[in-house]
Amino acid sequence: MTPPILLVVDDHANTRAYLRTLLEHEGYEIREAATGETALELLRSNEGKNVRGVLLDLKLPNISGIDLIQPIKEKRPSLPIIIMTAHATVPTAVSAIQKGAFHYLEKPLSEEALLGTLKAALSEDRGFALSEPSNIENRWAPMGPYMARLKDRVLKAAHHSFPVLITGESGTGKELIARTIHTLSSHSGGPFLAVNTGAIPRELVNSELFGYEKGSFTGAMERKAGWFESAGRGTLFLDEIGTMEISTQIAILRVIENRSFSRVGGTAEVPFSARIICATNDDLPSLIREGRFREDLYYRLNVHAIRLPPLRERREDVLPLAGHFLAQSLGRDESEIGFEPEARSVLERYFWPGNIRELKNVMISLAIEKGSDLPKDRPVQAGASWLPDFLRQGHDAGSGTESEGVPPRTLREGEKEQIRKVLRETGGNKALSSRILGISRKALYSKLREYGLKDE
Ligand SMILES: Nc1ncnc2c1ncn2[C@@H]1O[C@H](COP(=O)(O)OP(=O)(O)OP(=O)(O)O)[C@@H](O)[C@H]1O
Ligand SMILES: [Mg+2]
Repeated sequence: MTPPILLVVDDHANTRAYLRTLLEHEGYEIREAATGETALELLRSNEGKNVRGVLLDLKLPNISGIDLIQPIKEKRPSLPIIIMTAHATVPTAVSAIQKGAFHYLEKPLSEEALLGTLKAALSEDRGFALSEPSNIENRWAPMGPYMARLKDRVLKAAHHSFPVLITGESGTGKELIARTIHTLSSHSGGPFLAVNTGAIPRELVNSELFGYEKGSFTGAMERKAGWFESAGRGTLFLDEIGTMEISTQIAILRVIENRSFSRVGGTAEVPFSARIICATNDDLPSLIREGRFREDLYYRLNVHAIRLPPLRERREDVLPLAGHFLAQSLGRDESEIGFEPEARSVLERYFWPGNIRELKNVMISLAIEKGSDLPKDRPVQAGASWLPDFLRQGHDAGSGTESEGVPPRTLREGEKEQIRKVLRETGGNKALSSRILGISRKALYSKLREYGLKDE
């Protein structure tokens, strides 16, 4: 077998020499280019036809790495391009991936990551992944310190195919992270299939998950694929797994263990090749204690855990995210968006019960309201008065505001008042409220009934 040929595009002779030594040792053959122009020339030549992969530095003289992706893709649509950069940011990586790069690696390069990525990029197994244009529907916002740490976890998850469990309150970005992992992974050529596991009625679990054969029950006029089959070689995103029926849990566990399943009414074993990512805003260990979640499934799913803290626990991310959403909604550049000191402190102090989703919605409404009055030729400085009243009413985490009216006298009145206050602060989020109040969700629901607060 002839060794696979790789093209290394980097303006630093030292980096090229290092990669040559490392990769030749690993059985690859190396071609080098110091500029984008040379790289394109080489790929157009006869010799270029045998190149199987490109390692591309982002910072090159003249044509940058990002701008090289498209001409390379035009010439050789299925040639995997791996970006190397010392100044990695997720937005750059995302835009490289959107333009068709296979993956990106941060310098200084980790040998393990480099060899692993090359192996994945060159493997036949990826098949159809190569010619499909990558699509990322959402872009990540520029990062605060927390998001920077998160990026590492996400990239690691994209490198392997084990199940990933993403936990976090509503609106913390669980689905966005799941989609990002999918897009950066070797499963990106297949679909991203998101399913709400809590929503299927018990009697439909098997046919939804496994699909069925024609004639397997009354009304089965055609063969139908279930989730496991429809996910193909892509990613099956199991959302809200905390509310899953026990029968669904058993079915999923079985498929993970066997890596195959059969359709309802059929005997053929269908292989399961997708990657599983799960998300929940429940505390699974306590569901396990209550007997509502199977421990064996939990250990199967919790191979790589990513916890997304609520926004109020990572306040340093609020302003970068706010700037990102406002710029996006106004169609302006992020560098042109700022917040006056008082607006900053309002944004950073607020409790954000709806997390990133709520912040995004606030910025979208602000853009709708103010957008047309803003001069296009000057940077935007958003003032505190632009923000909705409820943000400014001192919703400090924990401290709370004095309740209106007569202060409560009895313990019962006090309890009712406290529950009402927390519900208001969390925007009616029962899971979060019960955690703040230090009681189980079940206990909260029974108190809501008791005090007639059900609809608050
Ligand atoms: N880091 C981020 N950068 C930009 N947008 C983000 C980020 N995180 C979340 N968002 C946006 O916030 C919104 C909520 O995110 P998402 O739907 O992923 O949350 P979730 O945790 O799945 O919520 P739920 O539990 O309610 O389903 C989406 O519009 C998403 O695009
Ligand atoms: Mg979600």
